[in-house]
Amino acid sequence: MSIEQLAETAQALVAPGKGIIAIDESTATIGKRFAAVGIDNSGENRRAYRELLLTTPKLSEHISGAILYDETIRQATGDGVPFPQYMAGQGILPGIKVDKGTVPLAGYPGELVTEGLDGLRERLQEYYRLGARFAKWRAVITIGEDIPTGTCIDVNAHALARYAALCQEQGLVPVVEPEVLMDGGHDIETCYEVTEAVLRSLFGSLYDQNVLLEGTILKASMVISGKDCPEQADVQEVAESTLMCLKTTVPAILPGIVFLSGGQDDERATAHLDAMNRLGPNPWTLSFSYGRAMQQAALQLWARDMENNLRKAQDLVYARARANGLAALGQWQG
Ligand code: 13P
Repeated sequence: MSIEQLAETAQALVAPGKGIIAIDESTATIGKRFAAVGIDNSGENRRAYRELLLTTPKLSEHISGAILYDETIRQATGDGVPFPQYMAGQGILPGIKVDKGTVPLAGYPGELVTEGLDGLRERLQEYYRLGARFAKWRAVITIGEDIPTGTCIDVNAHALARYAALCQEQGLVPVVEPEVLMDGGHDIETCYEVTEAVLRSLFGSLYDQNVLLEGTILKASMVISGKDCPEQADVQEVAESTLMCLKTTVPAILPGIVFLSGGQDDERATAHLDAMNRLGPNPWTLSFSYGRAMQQAALQLWARDMENNLRKAQDLVYARARANGLAALGQWQG
């Protein structure tokens, strides 16, 4: 796989006014989302729900790619078209979550490390054959008393870089996601310091391991107040702090940065992205790779009447995609 092809895929993921929809919840995680709205976590319900999302009319106007889960990339529409093929026909790049989730980091109470490197080369080869052209690996950094430690930050960065190098070897664009969790009572300054340390470590590891930044996308968390912090930073402060933190750590050669929503409410996530783009021009394209902030309204509506609300739920998915697509251009009219 040539550098040019990887760079082309990375550029396509952050094409102007487009972003990624993350629908790569593991079976356990989608089970939690389903349980909250009273849907049974069966294979058929998971398939039908992912079909609803992926077949949203005109989705590709604002969506460049969708991240799937191992089960989903092997599933098909009701008419029997495998999802990756259906997506390719719509001009939406198929992506795949390839990490195997987090486990406690031995020796570091309260901290997590992401697993999934063993056998990854072979799994990537299979995913490429199934149609995937980009991948995602999520590391989780928790803010708390005396954490994160430098060790936790570094081991997660090392694993992200190993994953990214393997992806590029197999022709997939790595989306590297070091998520700094919003959980906790910390203030925005603490989030800034932690995010800065995490991104410094990550880009150091990517450099050490010969990862081509032209063919890499960063999936970042925003610099934001902890959920339980009594003083919540406003939209402008989040936008300015996040941009400052990214500018000091992320090389300009990277084609794009997409944000996760991380539990922010839908409109807030859109407003933050819009505000950052209005502060531009920025060195890289800033777009979205939202999961919950793209899906939660649609899931709630669908759950009320799975047969009759399907089209209305798709209208909600489209509305979120359009709003975030406009925010990626700094043209959202909240
Ligand atoms: P959220 O936008 O719900 O945080 O999900 C994005 C994602 O893919 C996290 O890995």
